[in-house]
Formats: sequence, C-alpha cells, structure tokens
Amino acid sequence: MSVRMLVAGSGQMGGGIAETAALSGFQVFLWDALPGQTDKALQAIRIHLERKGQKEALTVKDQEAVLDRISVLPNLQSVQGIDLAIEAIIEDERQKTELFGRLSEIVDRSTILASNTSAISISRMASHVPVPERVVGMHFMNPVPVMRLVEVIAGGMTTDETVSQVKTWAQMMNKTAVVVQDYPGFISNRILMPMINEAIFALQEGVATKEGIDTVMKLGMNHPMGPLTLADFIGLDTCLAIMNVLYDGFKDSKYRPAPLLQKMVDAGLLGRKSGRGFYDYSH
Ligand code: CAA
Repeated sequence: MSVRMLVAGSGQMGGGIAETAALSGFQVFLWDALPGQTDKALQAIRIHLERKGQKEALTVKDQEAVLDRISVLPNLQSVQGIDLAIEAIIEDERQKTELFGRLSEIVDRSTILASNTSAISISRMASHVPVPERVVGMHFMNPVPVMRLVEVIAGGMTTDETVSQVKTWAQMMNKTAVVVQDYPGFISNRILMPMINEAIFALQEGVATKEGIDTVMKLGMNHPMGPLTLADFIGLDTCLAIMNVLYDGFKDSKYRPAPLLQKMVDAGLLGRKSGRGFYDYSH
C-alpha cells in the first residue's frame, strides 16, 4: 500500500514536496489556507512534469498518473488514514503550532507530524501536541524536486522509531536523509545563514560589489549560486527570520543580522518573490 501523506501549505516548498512525493508513488493530499494557492501549486507541478517529460522517459500517461496521485483537500477535516502529515506553511512559530494542534485533533495517534521548518525548535512545537514522540523535523531544500538532502530533526521527545520511519520515507523519495539534533538552525542553516549574513556585511561595508561577492563564491568555491543570489532565492525575510532564531537561540553576537539585511526587509525588498532584492527580477 502506498504511503499516504498530507502536505499542509502549498507554496514553493509544499508544492515541491507534493511533487516529489507523488513522483515517488505516494498518495498526496494537498491543503492550503489561502484560496487559489493549491491551483497555483498544481500548475507549477504540471509545468515541471512536462519539462521532465521532454527530457526523460516520463510519458504523458506517467505525468497524468503523478498528478492523479495528488488530491486537493477543500478542508483539513476531510483527511483520513494519513501516515505522514507535513506542514510547510510560513516560518511563524505561532501559526505552525496552531496548525499542529488542529492536525492532532484530525489525524490518528499513529500519524507522524513533521515540520518543514528551516530553524524553529521542533521540541517546542511538539510540546503543544498530545503525542510529541511522533513529531519530527523534515527539512527539505529548495527547489525540493532537485535538491537531494532532507535534514531529519529529532526533537527532545521524538522516538528513534519516528526518526527511522521518516528516514525510510525520505529515502523512498530519492533523498538522502541526515539526522540532526534540535539546536537553533539545525545544521543546514547554522552554517549556511551566517555565510549569507557575512556576505551582506561585506556588501554593506563596500568590500566588493554584489556581483564581485557572488563571483568569488561561485568561481572560487564552486557554489552553484553566489550568497547574495541565494539569499534572493530563499527570500530575505526568511534569511532574517533564521538569523534571528540563531541570535536568540545562542545569545551570541556572531549571529546578529546584518543591518543591511534588516533594512532591505523593512523596505519590502525580499528577493525573487517581491521582484527585487540584491538583484532586480521585475522583467
Ligand atoms: N522545481 C523543479 N525543478 C527545478 C526547479 C524547481 N523550482 N528549478 C530548477 N529545476 C530543475 C531544472 O528543471 C533542471 O532539471 P534537469 O537537470 O533535469 O534539466 C535542474 O533543476 C537545473 O536547473 P537549471 O538548468 O534551470 O538551472 P541551474 O543549473 O542553474 O540550477 C539550481 C538551478 C538547482 C537552483 C542551482 O542553481 C542550485 O543548486 N542552487 C543552489 C540551491 C540551494 O542552495 N538551495 C538550498 C537553499 S537553502 C534551503 O532551501 C533551506 C533553507 O532552510 C533556507
């Protein structure tokens, strides 16, 4: 029997998770609080599958079968018999905790509740649900269909069985799972975000131009994108939120967000999603 997975939140990450899971044969139930958002996600998935079809052996019939495995849920209450519920809504602890609370009233006690959070404490989120042993972090990277990693975060109460089950599902999705403990930023963002933040400090201090900084890291370190391009890709509001999680969590000034990052977020310059960040994406 195929794995039955609920994806709550159908933005870039949720849509990518749904696509990857359906491609791997999972039965996916997609939900979003925002009307129209699931249609947008399905449209993006359709485009990716068509592109894949042009390049690889993914026939039109296969593409239809993948799409048939994704059902849009009009409301969360209508979901039944779910093995894994993963939330991929905005990085707001209050909203994520509320959603976990609602989900635990709907799904069975045996369902694993996973969060795709990039930095928020899994242990704290789990403390609000009746079965914290079955709460875990399942942190996918953007773009989900392309990036091979899933960071699996064990919270303070998460059992080994939960971690092992989630690792198996990640492998079934063709991902490599790395288990990490629940400390601020886990591993991915504890290392990535200070690098991006440092690049922003360097730009603020005029050490080099934005293009110069990105080129050093692309050509000098073989990164696929320079740190400022990557910050635009992730979203500057997300970068700032993660830096604040690190700063608050460790109480160490080395994690203070660059004032330029704060200023750009205040000005609504959020990167690709707003049309402008360090670079201009308006045309
Ligand atoms: N969805 C599905 N597929 C996508 C995609 C998307 N959104 N974007 C690109 N692709 C696919 C393309 O179709 C293409 O597929 P094929 O190899 O089968 O042809 C492949 O990815 C490469 O795409 P492109 O040739 O268009 O572009 P590229 O070679 O420049 O690669 C990239 C694009 C994969 C995004 C690459 O630039 C890259 O790896 N960038 C770094 C990404 C990264 O660091 N992500 C992690 C961000 S941090 C994070 O997510 C966690 C967090 O908590 C903040």
